[in-house]
Amino acid sequence: MKLLVTGGAGYVGSVTAARLAESGHEVVVLDDLSTGHEDAVAEGVRLIAENIDDVIEDVLAEGYDGVLHFAAKSLVGESQENPAKYWHGNVGTSLKLLDAIRAHGTPRLVFSSTAATYGEPDSVPIPETAPTRPTNTYGATKLAIDHAITGYARSYGLAAVSLRYFNVAGAYGAIGERHAVETHLIPLVLQVALGQREQVQIFGDDWPTEDGTCVRDYIHVTDLADAHALALEHAVTGEHRVYNLGNGFGFSVKQVLDACREVTGHPIPAVVAPRRSGDPASLVASSERARTDLGWKPERVDLTGIVRDAWEFTRSRQEA
Ligand code: UFG
Repeated sequence: MKLLVTGGAGYVGSVTAARLAESGHEVVVLDDLSTGHEDAVAEGVRLIAENIDDVIEDVLAEGYDGVLHFAAKSLVGESQENPAKYWHGNVGTSLKLLDAIRAHGTPRLVFSSTAATYGEPDSVPIPETAPTRPTNTYGATKLAIDHAITGYARSYGLAAVSLRYFNVAGAYGAIGERHAVETHLIPLVLQVALGQREQVQIFGDDWPTEDGTCVRDYIHVTDLADAHALALEHAVTGEHRVYNLGNGFGFSVKQVLDACREVTGHPIPAVVAPRRSGDPASLVASSERARTDLGWKPERVDLTGIVRDAWEFTRSRQEA
């Protein structure tokens, strides 16, 4: 298939673009490089380094079999401080994309949605039927886009799939997580192990969880990437399907720190800090629907292995 990957120079987008290209698809990345990295775009993948809003009409006019839409603002904390950036950057741009898809009859869309659409769940693991009550602007904007996609799929004959990611981690060889301003737990902890940071903050130890720290479901980036190829294959015209993607195991912040200590051999000093605005206590996926409908089966579910891949990537960047 000829596929357009928006945000394909970012973390999950670049790994997915690389794996789609390796499996024989013709892949074009559209990324304004505001947070992505040109060198994360795999060889043989064409990069259009432009703003989606400015060029999407012309790009889709070339004719594509599908779009994978990763491009987004995706920091929970920032979304609380600067909601306008998220409403315009996420919802505004996605509506432009949907209109261009409609205008040019692009048949398939796979959208990067998020566990943050659920907010504080009544219970875990979270199925796709759980109520969506986002606790932060980031999640609210992704949910709004999901609703828009449902209408466009039903009324304009689009085959659409939203994949709700839980906490992505790990690396794919030389492609991994690197943000100019890092806010995610595992990369921050690994910066401590590298000596780039003195300590890590634990955002609250009084949450209603077993050890008092937040629980998340960490999923390896290559398992997540491979779900996109399956979603493309299984998308049905006129339908919008939603799938949660996680391993179904929850790990607390303290457990993540322990795994990082084991992998790096560094003591990783940690201090307890106040809770972060917008954080739910516990997010763990039920991915039964993805397993049943898509035949998706995550291969790298062990937290230590996920951290090891992230650590190898982090160290190799340091040495480069
Ligand atoms: N945390 C700390 N200290 C830090 C950084 C994070 O204690 O320095 C905690 C957070 O409070 C949270 C957990 O570690 O409980 C994970 O935080 P991340 O920032 O790594 O990830 P989030 O859970 O906030 O968000 C991620 C993605 C979102 C997605 C969400 C779904 O960034 O896009 O997972 O689970 F919506």
